[in-house]
Amino acid sequence: MLYRTVSGRRKAIGPAAQAFRQGNRLANTACQKAAGSVFGPPCPAVRCFFCFVLPQMPKSTSLWIDTAHQPQTAPLDRDVSADVCVVGAGISGLTTAYLLARDGRSVVVIDAGKVGNGQTAVTTAHLSAVIDDTFKEMLRLHGPDGARLAHESHASAIDRIEMICHEEHIDCRFERLDGYLFLGKKEKESTLDEELEAARAAGADVMRLPQAPVTGFASGPCLRFPRQGQFHPLRYLNGLADAITRRGGRIFSDTRAVEAVGGERACVKTSAGLAVHAGAIVVATNSPFNDLVAIHTKQAPYHTYVIGARVKPGTISHALYWDTEDPYHYVRLQRTTNQELGGDNSEAVDILIVGGEDHKAAQADDIEERFGRLESWMRERFPAAGEVEFRWSGQVMETVDGLGYIGRNPLDADNVYVATGDSGMGMTHGTIAGMLLTDLIMRRQNPWTELYDPGRVRTGAAVEWVKENINVALQYKDWLTGGDVKSVDQITPNSGAVMVESGRKIAVYRDERGSLHRRSAVCPHLGCIVGWNPAAATWDCPCHGSRFDKFGAVFNGPSSKDLDPA
Ligand SMILES: Cc1cc2nc3c(=O)[nH]c(=O)nc-3n(C[C@H](O)[C@H](O)[C@H](O)COP(=O)(O)OP(=O)(O)OC[C@H]3O[C@@H](n4cnc5c(N)ncnc54)[C@H](O)[C@@H]3O)c2cc1C
Ligand code: FES
Repeated sequence: MLYRTVSGRRKAIGPAAQAFRQGNRLANTACQKAAGSVFGPPCPAVRCFFCFVLPQMPKSTSLWIDTAHQPQTAPLDRDVSADVCVVGAGISGLTTAYLLARDGRSVVVIDAGKVGNGQTAVTTAHLSAVIDDTFKEMLRLHGPDGARLAHESHASAIDRIEMICHEEHIDCRFERLDGYLFLGKKEKESTLDEELEAARAAGADVMRLPQAPVTGFASGPCLRFPRQGQFHPLRYLNGLADAITRRGGRIFSDTRAVEAVGGERACVKTSAGLAVHAGAIVVATNSPFNDLVAIHTKQAPYHTYVIGARVKPGTISHALYWDTEDPYHYVRLQRTTNQELGGDNSEAVDILIVGGEDHKAAQADDIEERFGRLESWMRERFPAAGEVEFRWSGQVMETVDGLGYIGRNPLDADNVYVATGDSGMGMTHGTIAGMLLTDLIMRRQNPWTELYDPGRVRTGAAVEWVKENINVALQYKDWLTGGDVKSVDQITPNSGAVMVESGRKIAVYRDERGSLHRRSAVCPHLGCIVGWNPAAATWDCPCHGSRFDKFGAVFNGPSSKDLDPA
C-alpha cells in the first residue's frame, strides 16, 4: 500500500501500519455509531471502548491527496523538441501548458515527481479575487491602477478556471460562493471600514454586514465579497493533464530539470543528461531553480498549517472565510463522501478546512502547539466541527509587494519565463501565469504584464525587502551555533536534527527502524543551514525556500541539487 506524505512524496507503509490505520478508521466509525451519529464530535462525549484502545489519529496528508488518484506518466527517456518546454506540473505549469496547447503550440511538460507533486497538493484551494495582503496594501504598493488590475486579474483567473472546468468537463467540484472577511479578536471595526473603502477603490464588489448570513458561524461585523470560488485542486490538475494530452502535449514525470538555457538554441537539461529543445521555456517550479539571486531576494518562504474536521452537511454554510489577524486564519468546506474518506457508505460528508499559524520557513519548532492552537481557534468559532481527520502543512512564497512574479526571467534570455511568488494565492496566481505567459509567448498584448513583471521594484516595498533580507543574513549565524542535539541518541525514530560533527553541520535523520541517514546540512543554493520540519518530515532551508526530503533529495527550489553526502 502506498500513501503520500505532506510533502507530496509517495511512501510505502507496512502491513502493521495498514492494519492500524484500517482499525483506527473502523473503530472511529463504530464509536460514532455508538454515539448515535455518523457526524459530529461523539468521541469526546461518549468514549467507547474502541476509542480508548485506538485513539483517532488525524491523517498527516491533505484531503486532496487522500481523495484523488495520481496520473501516471513515464519519465523522459530521450531528447525531445517542442515549441515550449514547461518545467513543473503544478497549477502554474499545467495551466500554461494547457492554454498554449489550445493555441496550437506543441508543449512538453516535465516534473521532478508526478503531476501535482508540489504545493498544489497541499493547498486549501480558495479561489479568491480578494488579495491576501489586503486591498489597502495593494493601493499603497501598486497605486489605484495596479490595485484594480490585481483584482481584475484574480477575478479573471476564477472565471477562467470555471470556463476550463465547463469546457473540458472536469469534475473537480468547482463552486461559486461568497467570501467573508471578519475581524480578529483584538481588531477594531475601523480595519473593516478601511478595507471596504480600499476594496471599492480597486473595483471589487463588496458589502459591509453586521453578521455573515450563514449557518454555523457567528462572524460578527464582516465584509462580503460575492462570486469567489473553490474546487478540488488535484482533480482539477488531473483534468488539465488529460486535456493537455488530448491536444498532443506530452507530460513526463520523474524528470528533474537542472539547467534552463535560453536564447536561440534554448533547451532544458535534465539530471539524467537528457535535453528538451524548445523555442521558449517556462519555469513553473513554485520557486525557480534557474535563478540564483534576482528573484529570491524579493520573496520569502513561509510555512502554513491546515486541519480538516468532519462536519455534517448543512451545519456550516459553504463559503470562504478569513480573518484580519496577522498571520490570518483561512477557512472553507469541501463536500466529499464517507466512501472517499475510507468509510463503508456513500453518505455525503463535509470537511471543514482551517488554515493559519504561518511562520517563516524553518524558524519555528512548536509544530504541535500550532496545530493545537488552530484546533482551539476552530472549536471556538465553529462548534459544529467534529473530529479532526486531517493535518497537513505546506510552504508559500511571500513576495515583498504581495503579488506574484510572472513573466520574463530577469537577467536571462528573452525566451525564458518564470511563475513564482504565489503570496498565498497560488491557485489564481498560477492561472494568471497561464494566461499571461501564453500571451507573452504568443506575442500578444496583456494588460497585466507590467504589474507581474518579475523584474519590478516597488519603492513602497523597500522596508519589507530590507526586513526579509536581514532575516536571511541572520540565518548564516547558524554556521557558528551548536547543533539541535549533541548526540544521535537524542534523535527519536522518524525524526531528524542538525548536529555538529568534526566542525561540520550535518542533517541526521533516524528512520522508523532506527537507522541513521546523514547528509550535509548546508543548502546547495547559497549555503544556509537547513532545519528539520517535523510537520512534513522534511529538511527546509530558512533562506529562500529550498526543501529536501528526509533523505536529502531536493523537491522544491531554488536548489536544483540534493543535500551533499555528509
Ligand atoms: C497550506 C497551503 C494553503 C494554501 N491555500 C491557498 C489557497 O487557499 N488559495 C490559493 O490560491 N493558494 C493557496 N496556497 C498557495 C498555492 O497552493 C500554491 O501557490 C500553488 O499550489 C503553487 O502552484 P505551482 O504550480 O506554482 O507550484 P507547485 O504546485 O509546487 O508545482 C511545482 C512543480 O514543480 C516541480 N519541480 C520542482 N522543481 C523541479 C525541477 N527542478 N525540475 C522539474 N520539476 C520540478 C515539483 O515537483 C512540482 O510538481 C496555499 C498553499 C499552502 C501550502
Ligand atoms: S534556499 Fe537559498 S540558501 Fe537555501
